[in-house]
Amino acid sequence: MPTNVKVMRSDSEDLVEQSMCSMSGVNIVTKPKFSDIKKELLNESDISLLCMDGVYEGQNVVSYRDPFQDMQDIITVDQLKLALKLVFENKDTCFKTKEKNIARVLSLVKLSPGEVNKYTFIDPEKSYTRNLILTDNINYTLLLLCWNNNRESSIHNHPADGCFIKTLSGCLREVQYKYISDNELVKTKTSFIAEGQVSYIVDQSLHKIGNPLHQPALSLHLYTPPFGSCLSWSDPNSAPVEVKMGFYSCYGKRTPYLEGKPSKVVYLLQEIQQKVKTID
Ligand SMILES: [Fe+2]
Repeated sequence: MPTNVKVMRSDSEDLVEQSMCSMSGVNIVTKPKFSDIKKELLNESDISLLCMDGVYEGQNVVSYRDPFQDMQDIITVDQLKLALKLVFENKDTCFKTKEKNIARVLSLVKLSPGEVNKYTFIDPEKSYTRNLILTDNINYTLLLLCWNNNRESSIHNHPADGCFIKTLSGCLREVQYKYISDNELVKTKTSFIAEGQVSYIVDQSLHKIGNPLHQPALSLHLYTPPFGSCLSWSDPNSAPVEVKMGFYSCYGKRTPYLEGKPSKVVYLLQEIQQKVKTID
């Protein structure tokens, strides 16, 4: 183990329980073995902080044990929509309070597998697939990101006040960067967001997120306010390019006009249209 690694707690050996959700023919293993995570993650030479029980002293990470007062576990997306409405409907609340409340709401999210399945679409060719769950088009956008094994995003910024992440299954690795100039970024921190943990950045920091494990991961991402494009760096010394953000599915439905390859249904429809034309 590298000497600069701090393991805050390690009493999660019984995370061994695994559950399989079959979604559109894709098997998602929800809970990784804690021992496997340790084995894979601790090969990193630059890990500064690692915690597996949802509570650690990182600058931007909150405990999921800090409940949103009087609010119970959030099991369905409808409940989550109501909770977010509560957070955003008070226009007098300062962002600091909103930030805490969003994090608290996300910390209470324990969506059932059936509910998560509705929004789970996976493009095997992408590092991760962006699925829109909810948006009010003013205050926030909530996405389900489905991560393929051992894949990561590019380094990117967030033209928003806040970017909140909750890992629903698996474990994510976040690497943060400091902006020096357009083609000079410096790595500042590597941390991990384990299953059940909530993490957020609010200062338009640069980061990349990845799935370091040999199994898929699922995570909720809430952006406030919504944004349509961001800057992306392929590496810390490359020039940034503007990338438009798309969705692979919206509200649990895949349509041919979203990003990614059209579904089989689209090809079938095209084939039928072609045959009808031929008959005509
Ligand atoms: Fe991000």
